[in-house]
Amino acid sequence: PGNAGIARETVSKTGEKIDCRAVKATDLEGILGLAKDIQPDLCVVAPDDPLALGMVDHLTERGFRTWGPTKKAARFEWSKGFSQEFMAKHGIPTAKSKVCQTAAEAVDFANELQGHCAVKADGLALGKGVIVCHSTTEAHSAIKSMMEDSQFGEAGKNVVIQERLEGLEMSIHALCDGRTWKLFPSAQDHKPAFDGDKGPNTGGMGTFTPAPFLQPEEFENVAKLILDPWLKGCKKEGIEYKGLLYPGIMMTADGPKVIEFNSRFGDPETQCYLPQLENDIVELMEACIDGSLEKVELKWKRSATVCVVIASGGYPGQYEKGKEITGIESAEALGEVKVFHAGTKIDCGKLLTSGGRVLGVAATADNLKMAQERAYKAVEKISFENCYYRTDIADKALKS
Ligand code: AMP
Ligand code: GLY
Repeated sequence: PGNAGIARETVSKTGEKIDCRAVKATDLEGILGLAKDIQPDLCVVAPDDPLALGMVDHLTERGFRTWGPTKKAARFEWSKGFSQEFMAKHGIPTAKSKVCQTAAEAVDFANELQGHCAVKADGLALGKGVIVCHSTTEAHSAIKSMMEDSQFGEAGKNVVIQERLEGLEMSIHALCDGRTWKLFPSAQDHKPAFDGDKGPNTGGMGTFTPAPFLQPEEFENVAKLILDPWLKGCKKEGIEYKGLLYPGIMMTADGPKVIEFNSRFGDPETQCYLPQLENDIVELMEACIDGSLEKVELKWKRSATVCVVIASGGYPGQYEKGKEITGIESAEALGEVKVFHAGTKIDCGKLLTSGGRVLGVAATADNLKMAQERAYKAVEKISFENCYYRTDIADKALKS
């Protein structure tokens, strides 16, 4: 169904207005019906839920050319247990961990780690199914909430317990056509809700690219350490991965370690990548489908981007919706600023909030410092009742 931001876009090549239709992204039959109606040249399945439901398989089997991993391939995201076992089997560096089917097993392993662990729901939980613990008491209560009180429903039936890693977090994004992979520049997300990485984990409160903690060649080497054995493992296990793979990694004193795999573009990393991408993204997607990624060269503008998320007060817990948003036009008038919509809608001609993360304000410049200044200048122009954002996005990079 899109949102108020997508609805105001136009097709860059033709100038046509975007036509949003009220079909849910998870409605397999509804989307198929829509495809039959509009006969698209290309379908793109982007979010985690429809990927996990097998939307790509559903459309491809009925003759529609579709970009994204199949249900089997997207399992890297919809089962953290599967990913963890895959990494152990194929020599991909990751945290010490255990996949647990009972609370007793989980408690034992958390005790072994003295409570210094991350307790993770096996399945999809809107990016909220991870509790990072600092004591056995915290770990036991996280295990109880997932496995006994079913806080995340079926997703938390099994859990993965990982040792708690220390280090800088980074995001890897790689396109894959089943044969080879092509790397995006480094990025860093900010998952905790408040400044200084305080507060509960969210889906992501801001990002920047490039992440200057590593030189581009060093970053490429880190990615190789993960993506080469991953792709080899996929081939061995008959998984043909076509789409985007996004491993979240921690740069520890012992080297880089994968903390999770996502089978889609990161949010809000993508809000930083797209303003910098020179290639036509549709051509990249076609190359993934056709297995011709080897011939493609990814081209990036040499600039930096910072994206700051503006959220509703209370998110990631309870928050109110329906607040009027103002100032987007003056934010974009600053130049090299793009305001991406997430939880917004138009009602009676007014732009209103309709979600927890409401807007992603992305600013591009020649370097991170300038991009950060521009992003915050833009953010200050925008307001709605009870909005909040982190004021330290990209600080770590600028201080490093
Ligand atoms: P995930 O959804 O698995 O990426 O986890 C969400 C967030 O929890 C990550 O971005 C990290 O900040 C944190 N986290 C996850 N796993 C670990 C771990 N093993 N050690 C420390 N922090 C973690
Ligand atoms: N950047 C966090 C996510 O997309 O899962």
